[in-house]
Amino acid sequence: MPLEGFVADVGAGEGAAALGIALLCERPVLAIELIAERAARISASAERFGIESLEAVAGDAFDTDLSGAAGLYMNSPFFSKEVPAFMDKLARECRPGTRLFAVNAIVSDLARDPRLRPVPAEGLRYCTAAFELA
Ligand SMILES: C[S@@+](CC[C@H](N)C(=O)[O-])C[C@H]1O[C@@H](n2cnc3c(N)ncnc32)[C@H](O)[C@@H]1O
Repeated sequence: MPLEGFVADVGAGEGAAALGIALLCERPVLAIELIAERAARISASAERFGIESLEAVAGDAFDTDLSGAAGLYMNSPFFSKEVPAFMDKLARECRPGTRLFAVNAIVSDLARDPRLRPVPAEGLRYCTAAFELA
């Protein structure tokens, strides 16, 4: 993973994972959520728990600048058919070595992408597979 950078939760829902990651990880966490009400709930939770390292934004992850990301957490935010276009964006924008942490259906979508190589995920919380961008 790049030495500098934030961790993004791509499609953060109501923030269950993003809040946990922010508590466990020393890096800034950016929660990106398409549905504004959900993003607002994440901000409210972060404030309630005093988690200053977590920023929630309401918006489309496809339109969000991810060039500063060191890692991205993805709990299947997209349909499989959308994943190649998102990978095109990451390949254009993100640094080599950027890590993708994945859980649920998106794991098999990412495993098929030739621009990613699998890296060990044993012992990691919140994800079952991890990949590194070439
Ligand atoms: C399965 S939930 C993930 C919840 C959260 N990451 C977690 O693990 O607790 C997927 C979320 O992705 C959001 N989403 C779908 N497409 C998106 C997009 N293009 N940009 C940002 N969020 C998106 C949905 O609104 C939904 O809340």
